Amino acid sequence: MAKILDYVGLSFDDVLLVPKRSSIRSRKEVITRSRFTKRIWLNIPIVSAAMDTVTESKMAITMAREGGIGVIHRFMSPLRQAEEVSKVKRAENIVIEKPLTISPEATIAEAKKLMSQHGISGLLVVDSGNRLLGILTRRDVIFEDNDGKLVKDCMTPRNRMIVASPGITIEEAREIFRENKIEKLPIVDDEGRLKGLITSIDLIKRGTYPNASRDEKGRLLVAAAIGVKEQELERAKLLIDAGADVLVIDVAHGHSEMCINMIRKVRTLYGDQVDVVAGNVATPEGVEDLAAAGADAVKVGIGPGSVCTTRVVAGVGVPQLTAIMKCAEAAERIGVPIIADGGIKESGDVVKALAAGASTVMIGRLLAGTDESPGTIVVRNGRRYKIYRGMASMYAMLGREFRLGENEAEAFLDASEYSYYAEGIEAYVPYTGSASDVVKRLVAGLRSGMSYLGARTIDELKRNAAFIRITSFGYRESIPHDVEMM
Ligand code: XMP
Repeated sequence: MAKILDYVGLSFDDVLLVPKRSSIRSRKEVITRSRFTKRIWLNIPIVSAAMDTVTESKMAITMAREGGIGVIHRFMSPLRQAEEVSKVKRAENIVIEKPLTISPEATIAEAKKLMSQHGISGLLVVDSGNRLLGILTRRDVIFEDNDGKLVKDCMTPRNRMIVASPGITIEEAREIFRENKIEKLPIVDDEGRLKGLITSIDLIKRGTYPNASRDEKGRLLVAAAIGVKEQELERAKLLIDAGADVLVIDVAHGHSEMCINMIRKVRTLYGDQVDVVAGNVATPEGVEDLAAAGADAVKVGIGPGSVCTTRVVAGVGVPQLTAIMKCAEAAERIGVPIIADGGIKESGDVVKALAAGASTVMIGRLLAGTDESPGTIVVRNGRRYKIYRGMASMYAMLGREFRLGENEAEAFLDASEYSYYAEGIEAYVPYTGSASDVVKRLVAGLRSGMSYLGARTIDELKRNAAFIRITSFGYRESIPHDVEMM
């Protein structure tokens, strides 16, 4: 016989946080640092969703620079996804370990192609033994009309270059750039072999984004999604080789044998190289089982997303605030962080999700309308929009006419792990400019919420939180009312 639980499922709009005495004088005193996985901490608890209208390299770079992280979606070929990961890892390298090189015998046409393919302004010229022979920059080739000319005839040769030895510190590099007014500093060993490259732009960026999420080499952190089928282990390998810091096993029903087995396999094969996140679940049992299989964080949310129709189609789900609170009890006991995924409409929902026990929140819709999300701006009735769609929506499942090439049609079929029936919709979302501004506004709201609760840290926020349930009148009172909006 079916049973009915003795508690009511609440969503974000059913509650408010009760204010508390606070000694916080400025919102700047508030620290938004939080745990993404068992090992990885983020300076802001915000993660961009693994959806094809939300996160590819551009979004992941912005998220990491702001102090959060992006999860590169998996609805593309494994090779292309790995390339997206490496774009993030290369975006800000203090030391680029494998800089792009070219042979002295290559043509200027080849050099130009390589530079534009990778969006870089210079190539190091090496011989077959990887010994540095010179450098070719965009300035050397930009006005060169004869594309058949050889690299060796246009490059700046090694004897006119400034190079550094392995082990150089960032401060020493900064000084060399300042003194010599150069932009690229190759690292070369005693035998003249190329060991890396430091660029002035990367040093500048490091100063520009002091909050950024970085690995121990100074590169931006990035996560990438995989599915649960056997062949996804191949994808996992490519992503790890490309430098992914976290793999997110991303399926609609995470509390399933397939997901549990996949966690075990990834853990066994690659557990020492990456952190593993898995989901989605909506119950404490789900958290326990995924954590027991080896997940370093568990993603919570069945059906709260703005473009999800799982609850309508399947009749399944748990209102998100209750799901987070119930899952957080288990997560706390086990010592595994949870990621609240879906349903964040405003910064207030971020505060509520974290107060309820999540360590980070995953966001789709609020980031889908930005410059950094994949896809172009469309104009309807004079207003600008971008397209946002659920990964189990009809078009996401039927083929990706408007974006994907042949190989990728197969990758998309993976969406069938989500469902054979559409459990999501396609939608227009207003164009909202830069993702970094959206994230900054969310963080400003979070800081405000934390200061109302006298919480200097996310842990204090959880400890100090008391929710009050509200009625429809309370909700009406909470949003702008009885005025004509301008
Ligand atoms: P928001 O509310 O930020 O939610 O737009 C993003 C999350 O929604 C989930 N997602 C789906 N859920 N059907 C679903 O039931 C879908 O087609 C679908 N696509 C995405 C996903 O967890 C995402 O992070």
